[in-house]
Amino acid sequence: MFLSMGWLAVSCQQDTTVTKPVLEKPSLKNSFKKDFLMGAAVNDGHINGTDTSSLKIIEREFNTITPENIMKWMYLHPQPDSFYFDMADKYVALGKKHDMHIVGHTLLWHSQIAPWMDEIKDPVEMAKQIENHINTIAGRYKGKIHTWDVLNEALNEDGSYRTSNFYNVMGESYIELAFRLAAAADPDAKLVYNDYNLWKPEKREGVIRLVKNLQSKGIKIDGIGMQAHYSLVGPEISDIENSIIAYAKLGMEVSMTELDVTALPNPWDLDGAAVKQNYEEYEGDPVMNPYPNGFPDSMQVKMADRYEDLFQLYLKYEKNIDRITFWGVSNGQSWLNGWPIKGRTNYPLFFNRKNKPQVAYERVMQLKEKKSKLEEAGK
Ligand code: XIL
Repeated sequence: MFLSMGWLAVSCQQDTTVTKPVLEKPSLKNSFKKDFLMGAAVNDGHINGTDTSSLKIIEREFNTITPENIMKWMYLHPQPDSFYFDMADKYVALGKKHDMHIVGHTLLWHSQIAPWMDEIKDPVEMAKQIENHINTIAGRYKGKIHTWDVLNEALNEDGSYRTSNFYNVMGESYIELAFRLAAAADPDAKLVYNDYNLWKPEKREGVIRLVKNLQSKGIKIDGIGMQAHYSLVGPEISDIENSIIAYAKLGMEVSMTELDVTALPNPWDLDGAAVKQNYEEYEGDPVMNPYPNGFPDSMQVKMADRYEDLFQLYLKYEKNIDRITFWGVSNGQSWLNGWPIKGRTNYPLFFNRKNKPQVAYERVMQLKEKKSKLEEAGK
């Protein structure tokens, strides 16, 4: 359903009155314009222009994009002296064409990294390679990428530093190096630390330590990206809220960078007895894939309830929240059909497999409209 607004009667000097559309059509980006940017992660089909149906959604609904995979180290920099910029250039051109806020994801991440980088055990050599990586990429897109996820997933669940190869070889100094290099290569880009489960109190403390450490050394960091891969029941809104407050208190802009809400059970939700050795054993299990032929209305409502609660919170903190980015456009393309269990049928996003808005989309748009009306009425 599209909400009916945006038509205004304009009276002309002559004695006729014409009705002209002067406001923009309702869409996520237009409806939430005063609150935050609205975005989606884009894949090869979007970037190459082959998936025209999804592209229409992207153009209509979003004003910021993030590359789902193509800027990760293994794709951009697969060998020490070869960079492949073909897709990344096209990605940036897509964002520019539509005047979007273009996000770079991600300069340093232990996952989806080129294997040669994981073989480096000498700190001097590693620093040299990180320098080449960041200078080359952030330098190439200087002034074109508006926000960089400089560092992705450097913390464990208890807030300690993840013992990635980066950490094992260089200690925490690799984090400082990454932010220093990014700031020097593109001084105008916003620099973000991005991670999942950032609502967790212990992990939150880890983020606070990381940010304070950079700040105490005068190193630029502008924002925290809360990935926001959620389920219908967790995390609690209050935990997310406490993290937003804590990050804002450090002077950070907060973004929801990879929002999706899984509709399916995950292995870690199961009680002890049902837990299997590895996730492959769940493949083909109908209990773990309950809606292969469609998402029942009752579940659509649950999904809408969950998204409404999330957007209530986001609107409450719109002054601290810079951007809300969904991890994909339509349900059929979501990574959650294949992770953590392969071959499932999931419904985590706002657009269904035919690129039609789900109930959750409509509910969030209604929420915004209701709030705007209350504001206009001065309540
Ligand atoms: C995921 C992509 O969506 C998948 O296509 C890919 O196979 C694996 O990575 N956290 C991140 C994202 O920061 O880059 C990940 O994206 C999802 C989890």
